[in-house]
Amino acid sequence: MDSIRIQGGIALQGKVRIQGSKNASLPILAATLLVGERSFIRNCPRIADVHSMVSLLKSLGCSVCWQETGIAIDSSKVRRGEMPEDAVTGMRSSLCLLGALIGRCSEVVMEHPGGCVIGERPIDLHLYALGQMGVEFAEESGRLRAEASRLHGAYIRLPFPSVGATENVILAGVMAEGDTVLEGAALEPEILTLCRFLENCGACIEGVGTGRLVIRGGRRLYGTDFTVPADRIVAGTYLFGCMGAGGCVLLEQAPIEEMYAVMDLAVQMGGKVYTSPEGICVQAPVRPDPVRVSTKPYPGFPTDLQSVVLAVETVGRGCSYIEEGIFENRFRILGDLCKMGAQLRQRDSRNVTVRGVASLHGACVEAKELRGGAALVVAGLMAQGETFVRGCAYIYRGYENICRDFRELGARVTSV
Ligand code: EPZ
Repeated sequence: MDSIRIQGGIALQGKVRIQGSKNASLPILAATLLVGERSFIRNCPRIADVHSMVSLLKSLGCSVCWQETGIAIDSSKVRRGEMPEDAVTGMRSSLCLLGALIGRCSEVVMEHPGGCVIGERPIDLHLYALGQMGVEFAEESGRLRAEASRLHGAYIRLPFPSVGATENVILAGVMAEGDTVLEGAALEPEILTLCRFLENCGACIEGVGTGRLVIRGGRRLYGTDFTVPADRIVAGTYLFGCMGAGGCVLLEQAPIEEMYAVMDLAVQMGGKVYTSPEGICVQAPVRPDPVRVSTKPYPGFPTDLQSVVLAVETVGRGCSYIEEGIFENRFRILGDLCKMGAQLRQRDSRNVTVRGVASLHGACVEAKELRGGAALVVAGLMAQGETFVRGCAYIYRGYENICRDFRELGARVTSV
C-alpha cells in the first residue's frame, strides 16, 4: 500500500478532526526520559515518526504502552545512552533525544541524524549550544559521541531560531547544574508546548513564548499526564486542500491560536475563514487569487505548508511568487506538478513563480518527502481525472490517515 489513488475534481464538504501534533509530540516523547518514572501523553498521533521515536525509547530501556487515548512511557529503567545504529538515521527528530539523554546519562552515542531531500540539515547550532553547557563531541566510526562529565548552565545566543536546537537546550537545561539563558530561541508553538510539558513535570522555565528563555536547572522532575495539541500543519494541509479543490470544510480542534499566518494567507487567496470553539471553517473561492508568500520562522508563514500553497496556486487566477526562506531545497514537487499541467518557473533555489492555469489533469507522481507528498495528494484532489501518488511512506511519517481524512470531506481517495 505504497500509493494513493485520487479521483479529482470533487469539491470538499464536511468536517474532519485534526490529529495530534507530530512536531509537538516528538520532543515531548524525548522529554519523558528526563522524569525517570511513568508519564501519559494523550492525543499523541499514531504516525511513523512517533513509532520510530517509541522504538528508540524502548531501545534505551523505556517501557511503552499504547492505550486508546494515548501512550504511557516509563523511563525509570533507562541506564545507557547508546542508540541502535539503524534507528536514528533519516529521522531528524531523534536529534532531540541528544539533549534529553545527555541530561540523564553522561554519555550518548548516536548516528548523525539524517539529512533529507529538503536540505543539508546541519547540526552545528545544536553542537555549539550544547558545547556551551559542557558537552564534548567526537566522531566515532561515523557515529556522534557526546559526553558531559558535568552538564552545566550557560548563556547561549542562537544566531538563527533553530527549532531543534532550542528544544535541545531546553531538554539539557532542565537537567543541568545551574541556570541556562537562551537568547534567540525559536518561537514555534511546539517550543511552548514542550515548556508546558516540562513545567507540568516540575521544571521552572521563564520567558516561555518569547525569544529569551531562562531554564532553571537541577530540579527533580516527575511523571505527568499531558495532552498534545492538534497539529497545525495537518490542519493547514487540509485547509489549503479545500482552497484548491473547492468547497467548505470544518477543521475540528484546529489550533486557531497557532494559525494566524495560515488563515491570513487563505483570506489573501480569496478564501473565507471563520473560527469558532469547534475549530476553523474555510470556504474556498471559485479560483484562488494569486499571492506573494515567503516562509519564515514562527510567527511567519510556516515552511511546512509552502508546498501545499504552491500546489494550490497552480490553478490560481494569475501569477504567484513563492519564496522558501528556511530550507535550501524545498521545491521537490515542481516536476510532478508540471506533469499534471502546472506552469512553474524556478528562479533559484529559494524562489518559484507559479502561473495559474484553468485546471490540472491527473498523472502518476511520486512523493520524495513528507510535506511535498501531502501537497501532491492535494494536487490530485484538484486535478481532473485520476492521480496516483507513489512513495506514500513519506506521507505516513506525519499524517495518521490522510486518505481517511480526505474521504471524510467527500473526496475519492484510496490507498492502493
Ligand atoms: C523542525 O525541524 C521541524 N521538525 C520541521 O518540520 C520544520 O520544518 C522546521 O523545524 C522549521 O520550522 C520537527 O520539529 C521534527 P530548524 P528542525 O532547526 O528543528 C538550519 C516537518 O515536515 N539549521 O529550525 O530541523 C536548517 O538547515 C519537518 O514536519 C542549521 O543551519 O528545523 C534549516 O535551514 C520538516 N544548523 C533551518 O536552520 C543547525 O544546527 C531551520 O532548521 C540547525 C538548523
